[in-house]
Amino acid sequence: MNKSDLIEAASNYLVHTYNRPEVVFERGEGVYLYDTEGNQYLDFMSGIAVNGLGHSDPEWVTAVSEQAAQLTHVSNLYHTAPQLELARRLVENSFADRVFFANTGSEANEGAVKFARKWAKTHFHTNKTKIVAFTGGFHGRSIGALSLTYKEHYRAPFAPLMPGVTFVHFNDLEAARLAVDDDTCAVIVEPIQGEGGVNPALAEFLQGLRALCHNHHALLIFDEVQCGLGRTGQLWAHLNYAITPDIMTLAKPLAGGLPIGAILVTQAVADVIQPGDHGSTFAGGPLVCRAAQVVFDRINQPEFLQQVAANGLYLQERLNQIGAPSVKAVRGLGLLVGVQMDTAVAPLITAARDKGLLLISAGDNVLRLAPPLIITQEQIDTAVGVIQECLH
Ligand SMILES: Cc1ncc(COP(=O)(O)O)c(C=O)c1O
Repeated sequence: MNKSDLIEAASNYLVHTYNRPEVVFERGEGVYLYDTEGNQYLDFMSGIAVNGLGHSDPEWVTAVSEQAAQLTHVSNLYHTAPQLELARRLVENSFADRVFFANTGSEANEGAVKFARKWAKTHFHTNKTKIVAFTGGFHGRSIGALSLTYKEHYRAPFAPLMPGVTFVHFNDLEAARLAVDDDTCAVIVEPIQGEGGVNPALAEFLQGLRALCHNHHALLIFDEVQCGLGRTGQLWAHLNYAITPDIMTLAKPLAGGLPIGAILVTQAVADVIQPGDHGSTFAGGPLVCRAAQVVFDRINQPEFLQQVAANGLYLQERLNQIGAPSVKAVRGLGLLVGVQMDTAVAPLITAARDKGLLLISAGDNVLRLAPPLIITQEQIDTAVGVIQECLH
């Protein structure tokens, strides 16, 4: 099929959940994508913060090819070495004592809710089921995860959602104090909100939530699906804050583009979960876990993370130099950066794409930059140059 046939097929065969531009991607290499007409695009969105090592990384490709030829799926009824090797890496390099694998960020958050409820019911009372979440938060689209997601536009068509969720203003600790009580089983927060507009949490806010959870015997869940695994220049976003959660959910970048999710938990949480409590057919299969080992080992190197941090600062510095009146603020951490505009960013994204630069938004007025973590300063200069041209 040629490009126009493919685009027509989308309207004939797909449920229309995405508004896509008239581009069909065919190939990726490093930080570049190529469409069916041979046009090159500098990727500053990484498939929504997924492709940390860029596209078709040779080591990743070899590992996936070898593993596909050896063993792809057996279900969770059996042990496989890649799953256990990945679990060991995650546990040995985090606060967590145990990990449960899932397939997506939504599924990881669903599991986190189940684990928190079981923990609270086991140790306290049966109506300790309340969850506190935050304005601007995004935790996924399945009913449980959607119930924790703030945006009314995503929620309203699918009501009724899971009861017992209270939304509190992000970064407002006083409001959180009023919302968290002894019936709260968990507080869920993104240390840096992604979809909600690239909003870093304040250190006092996360510290305050940690204390509130402690005082009310609730679990603190960090959703690091978007901001975790090196994106901020630290292995985990919460390391920027020196605060540890009881549960952390991961997904997007972990397997370098293959679907994966993970719930990392303390021993106290793991202790309440029994065989049969939770499961997932595809989760933690040998193929994705082998791919994830490559991603994890490459990102979890001090030089790699330092480079992300340095390039993140450089990106913000360069964006701050643009000096266009419509740019109101530049914020973020590492290579998750938001540009707050006073206008809708959709036309800018279209104009940049026409000039070979892929960007995404985070809400209507925030431009989100989340390039592959291997991006160089020269490529950052190119991207900022295109943004500047489009703005002027
Ligand atoms: C912070 C956060 N949590 C959860 C999700 C949901 O992940 P998935 O789309 O893999 O279900 C996302 C997706 O954008 C996210 O950014």
